[in-house]
Amino acid sequence: MTGNFVPSPSLRSTAWFSGHDEVAVLHRAALRSMGHDIKANDSRPIIGIANSASDLNPCNRVLDELAIAAAEGISAAGGIPLVFPVMSLGEDLMKPTAMLYRNLVAMEIEETLRSYPLDGVVLLANCDKTVPAALMGAASADVPAIMVIGGARPIAEIDGRRLASGTSLWRSYDDHRAGRLDSASWSRIEECMSCGIGSCNSMGTATTMALLTEAMGMTLSGMATIPAGTRESRDAAAQAGRRSVELVRAGIRPSDILTPAAFDNALAVLAAIGGSTNAVLHLCAIAGRLGISLPLERFAARARDVPVIVDLEPTGTGLVQDLHAAGGLPTVLRVIRDHLDPTATTVTGRTIEHIAAAARAPSGVVRELDRPVTDRAALAVVRGNLAPDGAILKACSASPHLLEHRGPALVFDSYTQMRERIDDPNLDVRAETVLILAGCGPVGAPGMPEWGMIPIPAKLAAEGVTDMVRISDARMSGTSFGTVFLHVAPEAAVGGPLALVRTGDEIAVATPGGRLDLLVDDAELARRQASWSPPASPHIRGWPALYRNHVTQAPTGCDFDFLQGPTAESRRMVAPTIGRS
Ligand code: FES
Repeated sequence: MTGNFVPSPSLRSTAWFSGHDEVAVLHRAALRSMGHDIKANDSRPIIGIANSASDLNPCNRVLDELAIAAAEGISAAGGIPLVFPVMSLGEDLMKPTAMLYRNLVAMEIEETLRSYPLDGVVLLANCDKTVPAALMGAASADVPAIMVIGGARPIAEIDGRRLASGTSLWRSYDDHRAGRLDSASWSRIEECMSCGIGSCNSMGTATTMALLTEAMGMTLSGMATIPAGTRESRDAAAQAGRRSVELVRAGIRPSDILTPAAFDNALAVLAAIGGSTNAVLHLCAIAGRLGISLPLERFAARARDVPVIVDLEPTGTGLVQDLHAAGGLPTVLRVIRDHLDPTATTVTGRTIEHIAAAARAPSGVVRELDRPVTDRAALAVVRGNLAPDGAILKACSASPHLLEHRGPALVFDSYTQMRERIDDPNLDVRAETVLILAGCGPVGAPGMPEWGMIPIPAKLAAEGVTDMVRISDARMSGTSFGTVFLHVAPEAAVGGPLALVRTGDEIAVATPGGRLDLLVDDAELARRQASWSPPASPHIRGWPALYRNHVTQAPTGCDFDFLQGPTAESRRMVAPTIGRS
């Protein structure tokens, strides 16, 4: 323990267990019946272990053994571990998208921490949305918290060639549709992909969010890249368990760690790793829980300052295991040290500066600043009459010749329509066409699925076209690539200009100038706006209806309007009214 925090004098759980009335007796008996002999004057912190392991989610399936290790660490440090289940958000199987449920899991974690006698929490997460959801919930609850990342799955291989999760699949499918990959080879890819559990091993959203969580100081140093299912992973979970007890005793809360400096460092790391565009949403949402604003232009400015120095798919060539071998995030921090706020601290008690100073020199997939992976910035932000509130582009994986472009629009009003038409041999499309997918934003889909990387039309793919300008109010997977302008805000479903584009309209993209415009005169746009009405939605009940009514637009992270910002209650997170019911 080397931080400068003042020790906390009392435990939150005392409100449940002290005293000798019938309520306190009931509470102690409840824990005793599960094997925890708790006393009225017990000084042992009670640490929740939020476990999002599930047979429905191969990425998080690794977390059960880490829950055991974390519990051992908590017990060894003098705490009482209590595992509780958390809904598992798996990108592979959930439809329409795990993103639809990120806020639900954040609420689940916040409310579990609020309603139970927990002094601290170990957050077990891995797949894309479980990581930000856990951070959002912990930030709102603001009880001492530390995250354990499950780690990347083993590397799949085919004929000695390594497959990057997601990225290799998208590329192979394009080859298959274009006739360059036969059916037998396509089937073999499916067999080879089924190689084990854990998160995607390219620079997808899971890897990105793991690295950013570590960069913001919410994990042990080096945690983000530890491979799944290893002794190293279990040891780290045990150490995190021990550390969680120390965090409670020191009174260190997420709001002490997730400061503006921590977010600014996260933006620098996001640029350096060429991370997923989804991180923009998640960072905005996490920051929003703490009353911290992250304008899109701040992301773009950091990306202009900090080059991409981590050589991982889909921008580069390596995989997460290579990054771990090269020293993981600490080495990245060392390289970009001059771009970091050195005062930001971490759950380890060490500052980011200390961690960077102690890190290994760059090698392998981690480059020096003067030898970046690409001369393009990781991220660009554009605005214009087509995206008044902004849109983003993963510039480092876009085609340089398409960063400035003019072309006619081909509009798809829904994902279903796009899938039905995209491979039609009679589709009126050319390489310079701008593909538009509207109606797929946070309200429209709902949940803003990863549909933004519209496939290259089969007839163009067969001609050798590998990239086109694509524009959408949807997201795309962090493992995706191409000149895809995403997160257009406001989205079409709430009347954003994307709803007004017609096939044949001229679109102008000027990425260096930060512009995205629909070249249709204002009078015509006003006519179209006047005749626009919100599309009918089948989601009139349950969670999707609640989601549509309260979700915010992409620039504020798609959190719910009623969950943003800190409240006096969440800041203090005192025990709720004590009673039996
Ligand atoms: Fe879960 Fe990629 S699908 S981490």
